[in-house]
Amino acid sequence: MSTQPPRVAAFLNQKGGVGKTTSSVGVAHALARAGYDVVGIDLDPQGHFAASLGLEGLDPGLDDTLFDGTPLAERLQQARPGLRLVPPGPRLADAEQMAGGRERGWRLQQAIAGLEPFPDFVVIDCPPSSGLLAMNALLAADELVMPVSCDYLGLEGLAGLMRTLMRVERGLSLYLHKYVLVTRYNGQRRLPREVLGKLEGYFPGQILRTPIRDNVALAEAPGFGQTIFEYRPSSNGAKDYAALAEDLRQRRVREAAGQE
Ligand SMILES: Nc1ncnc2c1ncn2[C@@H]1O[C@H](COP(=O)(O)OP(=O)(O)OP(=O)(O)O)[C@@H](O)[C@H]1O
Ligand SMILES: [Mg+2]
Repeated sequence: MSTQPPRVAAFLNQKGGVGKTTSSVGVAHALARAGYDVVGIDLDPQGHFAASLGLEGLDPGLDDTLFDGTPLAERLQQARPGLRLVPPGPRLADAEQMAGGRERGWRLQQAIAGLEPFPDFVVIDCPPSSGLLAMNALLAADELVMPVSCDYLGLEGLAGLMRTLMRVERGLSLYLHKYVLVTRYNGQRRLPREVLGKLEGYFPGQILRTPIRDNVALAEAPGFGQTIFEYRPSSNGAKDYAALAEDLRQRRVREAAGQE
C-alpha cells in the first residue's frame, strides 16, 4: 500500500501471441511475491489473464467500470496474496462501440486514479488490437512494455507500433517509458541471437535486460490455473520472470551489444 500513485505498466502489442498475457501473469505475480501490492487489469475480452490465475467466471468485471463508471475497487478479486485482479467482464467485447467522445479513452486512467489506497503496481494485459481498449491502456500507463517474440516475424510491426506511440505521445503531450521485452528466446540458435542484436541497434536503451527464454512450463502453467512460480518454481521461466520483474522495477535495460 502506498500514498504515491502506482506505477502502471501495460503489456501492449497489436500482434497476437507474442507473450503479453504470459508476461503480465509472470511479472504481476513476481512483484506480489516480492512484497508489493499489485493490481492486475485484464483488458482483453478473452480473459486469459484471469484464467491463467485460475479465476473462473468473468462476471462482474472491468466492463462495468468502463461503461458505467463503477469504482475499480468494487471489481477487484483476490487472486494471490498481494495480487488482486479485475477480470474483463462480458461486455468488454463490445467496448469498441462504447458511446461517448474523447473522454472514453481516459476511463481506465480515471478508475486507477480513484483506487484508494494506491497499490504499488498496476499491470495491464492488453488485447491484440489497437482500438479504444488499447487507447485506455496507453492513457493509463506510465510504462509500455512491448513483448516481441524473437524471430524476424516477431519484429514485424514493432517499428510501426513505436512510431504510432510517439505520434500519440506528441498529440497528447504525454511521456511514456517505452520498453521492448524479448520473449521466446533461444540463445543456442543463431537467428534469435541475431534478432536480439538487431533490436539492440534499433532500440538502444529500451530493451529490458532479461530475455524470456522459450520454456514449455510457461505454456503449460495456465492450463492448471497456476503461475510459473507455483507450477515450476525452479524452471527457466520462473527465473526469467523474477529477473524481469526486477528489471522493470529498477528500469534495467540492455547495454549496447558487447558491453555486458
Ligand atoms: N517463453 C515462452 N516459452 C514457451 N511458450 C510461451 C512463452 N511465452 C508465451 N508462450 C506461449 O505462447 C502462446 C502465446 O502467449 P501469450 O498468450 O502470452 O501471448 P499474447 O500476446 O497474450 O497473445 P494474444 O495476443 O492472443 O493475447 C501461449 O500459448 C503461451 O503459453
Ligand atoms: Mg493475451
